[in-house]
Amino acid sequence: MSSLSPPSHRIWWKQPIDRIEGIWIIVALAWALILFLWMPYWHIYGKQNLSNESYKTTPQMFEKKAQEMVNKYTVRTETADKIPVVAPPPGSDVYFIARLWQWWPILELQKGKSYRFHISSLDWQHGFSLQPVNINLQILPGYETVVTVTPDQEGEFGVVCNEFCGVGHHTMLGKIYVKK
Ligand code: CUA
Repeated sequence: MSSLSPPSHRIWWKQPIDRIEGIWIIVALAWALILFLWMPYWHIYGKQNLSNESYKTTPQMFEKKAQEMVNKYTVRTETADKIPVVAPPPGSDVYFIARLWQWWPILELQKGKSYRFHISSLDWQHGFSLQPVNINLQILPGYETVVTVTPDQEGEFGVVCNEFCGVGHHTMLGKIYVKK
């Protein structure tokens, strides 16, 4: 008999189950349930899977909102490319753009204050990875990912792209400052 020919017992599902097969079904079911329960467990205790919200947007709409924030709250520029460093007021909406191959702008946030943090891509799929705290979010064009953040450590944080996005992927680095 091969898998192409019909089984010798046509009503195969009425055959008694083999003991070994039964044990395997129980093992597989138990493991599936453990993995299923691990997801909410890790969400709460792993502190890496954020409770993010997601909204539809367009690259044009998102870029406009980010540009408005940059126009209002830029405090200085950095590097030869004059990347704006933006210090939005606590409690406000903060926009962070992912695009080939840049995170834009540089943000300056205050420790212990909350912000509505919006991230979207203007072109490709990118991966937001905040280092060294290792918070990761999938960033897709057309979708605005929103998290409420309250930075609890001062310092300079790096943002790397952890989703391969082309020849400049390894140069896609951003920065977020957290000040007192
Ligand atoms: Cu953006 Cu890799």
